[in-house]
Amino acid sequence: MNIGVLKETKTLEKRVAIIPSTVKDLTKKGYTFCVEKDAGNLSHYSNQSFIDAGAKLVEKNDVFNCDIVIKVNTPTEDEIRSLNSNSLLISLFQTIKDIDLVKTLKEKQVSAFSLNLLPRTTLAQKMDVLSSQASIAGYKAVLIGANHIGKYMPLLMTPAGTISPARTLIIGAGVAGLQAIATSKRLGSKVEAFDVRPEVKEQVESLGAKFVEVENDGGDGVGSGGYAKETSEEYKKRQQEVMKERIAKSDLVITTALVPNRPAPTLIPTSMVDLMQPGSVIMDLAAENGGNCELTTTDEVVHHNGILIDGNSNFPSTMATHASQLFSKNIQAIIEHCHTENGFELNKEDEIIDGMLFIEKGEVRHEPTKEAL
Ligand code: NAI
Repeated sequence: MNIGVLKETKTLEKRVAIIPSTVKDLTKKGYTFCVEKDAGNLSHYSNQSFIDAGAKLVEKNDVFNCDIVIKVNTPTEDEIRSLNSNSLLISLFQTIKDIDLVKTLKEKQVSAFSLNLLPRTTLAQKMDVLSSQASIAGYKAVLIGANHIGKYMPLLMTPAGTISPARTLIIGAGVAGLQAIATSKRLGSKVEAFDVRPEVKEQVESLGAKFVEVENDGGDGVGSGGYAKETSEEYKKRQQEVMKERIAKSDLVITTALVPNRPAPTLIPTSMVDLMQPGSVIMDLAAENGGNCELTTTDEVVHHNGILIDGNSNFPSTMATHASQLFSKNIQAIIEHCHTENGFELNKEDEIIDGMLFIEKGEVRHEPTKEAL
């Protein structure tokens, strides 16, 4: 079984899907690797390190001859057109958002795993790129946010006077939010966090942050599989009232609120930004799906009356060495999961494989994607 690794093509992307240690480990299991030349350059995995691990360095066109083709970001239309039928593509597909690409996959009769569709089970944790990358995003957003504010994060007593700690508010306490809480606590900030799912209160408090409560009488916002669902208009109003007060007092706001298969909810309207103190910062980690702040512009830093809103949609890329290492380990775990005594097999009775395999030999298997088509 031959595995191809494509060089990323998206602007500002520095990650690579597979690093040399994975090449080495999977080569021992009988896999061979064709890595596109320079694929690891921007994440500091050199061409030579791939060769030393046992991979063959190839031109882009040769990657498409492989049985499995891996890329972090969704491949382009041209890349999909270059694939052989019978190949398996592994990438971070957002199948509904990328529906035109799904049509091309269908025409090409290929199979594909969407890493976004991995079931969130205990067994699947080590394969979960959403978690490994979200954790980096939460960490890095705090560091960059701390860099944007013109203030210290911790309480300081100096001969020139006492500095109060910065106030950080985290909205959405999933994987990214919890890492953001832990990081801002480590930097000495005063941290508050809010999530529509009341069950995260305990996790927030265990990290030393204060959980902001919004009255919730009907399981509002609690979806299935540990995810949030869209909240009612009445709940949104209550949430806005509480948020207004908290945001006005915050130096750094980190928003991470996402709802699967929906645009990110707008939680911070411009009127709320106007209540913030000049010099305050919003880091919007939901920017890729439209953002949680009305003023967010994806991949841009917006200045609004002295408030900075950072809409970077790819924080993991700013930590490309570790982000690639974790991504690669996740993919390695997926391949090992599919590896049987007969070699690589797609056993559709397996919950993890069944969940990710949204298209098989051109036939769409994932119901919401089928409906979108
Ligand atoms: P996510 O990225 O989909 O959303 C981020 C957070 O935003 C979530 O906590 C969500 O509740 C919150 N949110 C959504 N709408 C909101 C709103 N209107 N206001 C405030 N907050 C809002 O979530 P993520 O980080 O991917 O994790 C979702 C769940 O899955 C978590 O409970 C996590 O612990 C669990 N999980 C389980 C795994 C496993 O068992 N393999 C792996 C990773 C996560």
